[in-house]
Amino acid sequence: MRLTVVGGGSTYTPELIDGFARLRDTLPVEELVLVDPSEERLELVGGLARRILARQGHPGTIVTTNDLDRAVEGADAVLLQLRVGGQAAREQDETWPLECGCVGQETTGAGGLAKALRTVPVVLDVAERVRRTNPDAWIIDFTNPVGIVTRALLQAGHKAVGLCNVAIGLQRKFAALLGVAPADVHLDHVGLNHLTWETGVRLHGPEGEDVLPRLLAGHGDTIAADLRLPRPLLDRLGLVPSYYLRYFYAHDEVVRELRAKPSRASEVAEMERRLLSLYADPALDEKPELLAKRGGAYYSEAAVDLAAALLTGTGSPYQVVNTRNDGTLPFLPDDAVIEVQAAVSRKGPTPLPVTPLDPLCAGLTAQVTAYEDLALRAALHGGRDRVFKALLAHPLIGQFAYAEQLTDRLIAHNREYLAWA
Ligand code: G6P
Ligand code: MN
Repeated sequence: MRLTVVGGGSTYTPELIDGFARLRDTLPVEELVLVDPSEERLELVGGLARRILARQGHPGTIVTTNDLDRAVEGADAVLLQLRVGGQAAREQDETWPLECGCVGQETTGAGGLAKALRTVPVVLDVAERVRRTNPDAWIIDFTNPVGIVTRALLQAGHKAVGLCNVAIGLQRKFAALLGVAPADVHLDHVGLNHLTWETGVRLHGPEGEDVLPRLLAGHGDTIAADLRLPRPLLDRLGLVPSYYLRYFYAHDEVVRELRAKPSRASEVAEMERRLLSLYADPALDEKPELLAKRGGAYYSEAAVDLAAALLTGTGSPYQVVNTRNDGTLPFLPDDAVIEVQAAVSRKGPTPLPVTPLDPLCAGLTAQVTAYEDLALRAALHGGRDRVFKALLAHPLIGQFAYAEQLTDRLIAHNREYLAWA
């Protein structure tokens, strides 16, 4: 089996390699191709990747290249973890929205739109090359904003599934709180990427006992503290929002916090410098502790599980993925991309039925879906008006004056990435 990682020079790659090495019985990878425009990163990350495999006695080989067409040739699956513009572009996304009093975040709000505009054309180009050489290959997208990017891929007819680690992170957390194995925790996970709620927490599969009320009663304080949301909010909702909902439920508080501290991008850039210098040490042959400070915890487990289900029909039978709605959430269009539990096989994901969503969650989901639709149109066709409309539709923006100012800022900061600007 041959897997290709686009953005393979990412400092995250050792996390992925570690997963492939540990979980080799689930997914027997023979060749892993890391493709990246940066020679330097490929050398550092590729070197460590080889040492991780060797230490764990994994027989697979690592190929590094900056030739995308060569890299995708013969791949059974292609993982997308690229970041157009790197942390420097992210730093911008996290900064200029704050000038208008709006949240500055890499996937939520105006910053997320900027990222979508930069990313969608690049990802579609990669996907076209995959399709040309390997029409049967699966594309697993971890590139943010995952909801919009996956929608772009599916709309263009690609064999794609979107992946995020928020659900697997919560599954692991709840399992620890309940004192059970992670595989025994099944989440009723509903919404859009980075806009989800756990409406149930079941033991032993989708039909199992719902222990969410017990979890909230016994561990509500811990869960609330982790999400940095007030406990009474969780109790009144009776469900657990993802930490990305904090940008909505505590928007102004978050803006005040963000204004008072360095951006996450600058923290991550500093961490990346340290990680790359660690990776350069020929004695290092495992993923360093420091990597755990990145947001992508358990990404490798989720990716291995998904690739195993798509390629070999093994892996967990139910997984949280980003896929076409097709009536699962009846209040959304069929072509919306939702993030839910799905049965995953070689044919792809089939969402499990979802219990009707509280209007409080459904309303927000519908509005953000409309934003994502407009964001994708702006990413595909360009133009100031399309950018403006997407921003106006976003529930965290919504006002004419803000949408106007943010449109100008977005275009000014991203001109080099926008073919039409
Ligand atoms: C979580 C999200 C990812 C996001 C990451 C950011 O893992 O699910 O989509 O990329 O956080 O982490 P970072 O360390 O880059 O801030
Ligand atoms: Mn994510």
